[in-house]
Amino acid sequence: MSSILDCKVIPLYKIHNRAGNITIVEGKKNVPFEVKRIYYLYDIPGGEGRGGHAHRELRQLIVAASGSFNVILDDGKDKKTFYLNRPDYGLLVVPCIWRELVDFSSGAICLVLASDIYKEEDYFRNYDFFLKYIDNEV
Ligand code: TYD
Repeated sequence: MSSILDCKVIPLYKIHNRAGNITIVEGKKNVPFEVKRIYYLYDIPGGEGRGGHAHRELRQLIVAASGSFNVILDDGKDKKTFYLNRPDYGLLVVPCIWRELVDFSSGAICLVLASDIYKEEDYFRNYDFFLKYIDNEV
């Protein structure tokens, strides 16, 4: 079963010069999956949270492209909070991990690189069902 110990913040490749920075992510090179989809969350009202789900198969890299936020990961046994505030680091989230994204700073942009296209059937949206699934009860 998945563990939050398999989720980690990884440094991304960064080229710096006086005109600014560029960060590059290449599938199967800097992230351990082929990137099939990119989406980003923005204009998040103060106090709002996102996430509140887990995925059966999907792997993701979550990046604070601008601003900051907290990602709370939960494998059903343990929870860990990751504070993301740098565009040159990404949080790798493996399958079967419940996540909540909270405490977005004003103007934050949450960039997500995902291993697959959008499939609603890949989501766990009910926390109790998620816990039963990982305990092999359903
Ligand atoms: P959801 O993944 O629940 O958002 P978040 O984790 O940011 O809170 O998605 C919100 C809505 O957007 C939901 O109705 C599904 C839809 N959606 C797509 O249609 N395609 C996508 O690639 C994503 C990420 C979401």
